Amino acid sequence: MDKLIIHGGKRLKGGVDISGAKNAALPIIAASLLASGYCTISNVPNLKDIMTMGRLLANLGAGFHYEDRKAIINTEKVKIFEAPYDLVRTMRASILVLGPLIARFGRAKVSLPGGCAIGARPINLHLIGLEKMGADIKLESGYVVAKGKRLKGTSIYLDVPTVTGTENLMMAASLAKGRTLLENAAREPEVVDLANALISMGARIKGAGESVIEIEGVDELKPVNYSIIPDRIEAGTFMAIAGITEGDIIIKRCRLDHLDASMMKLKEVGLVFEHVSDGIRVIGPSRPKAADVKTMPYPGFPTDMQAQFMAIMSIADGTSIIKETIFENRFMHVAELRRMGADIIVEGGTATVKGISKLKAAPLMATDLRASASLIAAALAAKGETTVHRLYHLDRGYENMEEKLVKIGADVKRVKE
Ligand code: EPU
Repeated sequence: MDKLIIHGGKRLKGGVDISGAKNAALPIIAASLLASGYCTISNVPNLKDIMTMGRLLANLGAGFHYEDRKAIINTEKVKIFEAPYDLVRTMRASILVLGPLIARFGRAKVSLPGGCAIGARPINLHLIGLEKMGADIKLESGYVVAKGKRLKGTSIYLDVPTVTGTENLMMAASLAKGRTLLENAAREPEVVDLANALISMGARIKGAGESVIEIEGVDELKPVNYSIIPDRIEAGTFMAIAGITEGDIIIKRCRLDHLDASMMKLKEVGLVFEHVSDGIRVIGPSRPKAADVKTMPYPGFPTDMQAQFMAIMSIADGTSIIKETIFENRFMHVAELRRMGADIIVEGGTATVKGISKLKAAPLMATDLRASASLIAAALAAKGETTVHRLYHLDRGYENMEEKLVKIGADVKRVKE
């Protein structure tokens, strides 16, 4: 297990290249199962979760080769339709193979993901949607066992705009007979990226990025060459790092149109953004101002940026109220930030953060992916030595984080525990 040793208190300055989006790459890799042949997906970040998805596909009988940010997948010999517990428990996004498997092969057995650190995270809406399309779904010994002939298009209303639920159903509907309407669908850029990849495979999809998606099923999809969008959460995280370190960072290769809500909040607390030829320059204030925020489905403020925003608010001038409305347990970073001196009280889904002038270095424990990013941001602002343990959480979703930090002047070092 690795840990990160950070000597904070430096103004970070320089350029950061943003990697491809993990949460777009995962469903698009899963979508390769909808066709037979070779798919080449580029701008795929080199991350633990991507390799887990690769192992899962290999387990199904597909070829998976990753090199130079490219995933080459051969789905000609898929002959196993099961996602085993051992893989699913390490990555919930494994559930994304359910829709493609049932749609193309008429059968799938996928371990039911359990709860995770940030919440219970049920998948009932994925299953209800597939049942409405005609799949026969049973839960057997911790597995979702799905069978069915060709799925049929139908209208599906999602009680909540679930991201992976929308993705699973959109993939399944692409090969169903007839038209599917997904209502109250997730509008995240990753959903749109998947829709664009599916369209390149021959799918007929309209309305991705809006709350009603219309999918006219086709008989067959073809393999695809596709390049993944940049990771908006990684870009937002580096903006937050500029904000907390009084930094001056140029964020390169990102899609600013995916970052509206995050940038609006960051401007409100005092960050300055300037368009430059190779990206966006982000300048952090000498001390951030307090601002309230509530996480919402896209285009609202992302839950995946809540922990990083809280790190900034912990040193803000004033008190901020942070409401988490997506996941019921996404405040695990609070106890760690408190160990650095932060003044934060949590009641239910609301955190009240009274800004203090300076955070103090301390040994810290990462609990989940975005919490790790929050703790690293806080550590970069605190004078002295902070150690962030359990770095494997970070490695699931941030590509080369420490190299990127060193390039902008941070004193960080990865060591084996
Ligand atoms: N929900 C249900 N029933 C369902 C599905 C979801 O009640 O069948 C609820 C969840 O419990 C939650 C809400 O709906 O309260 C939203 O969850 P959603 O399904 O949208 O989350 P997800 O698809 O499991 C994806 C990202 C998360 C990101 C969320 C929210 C991937 C692989 N994961 O998760 O990313 O936080 O959307 O935007 O796309 C991360 O990258 O750190 C991460 C956790």
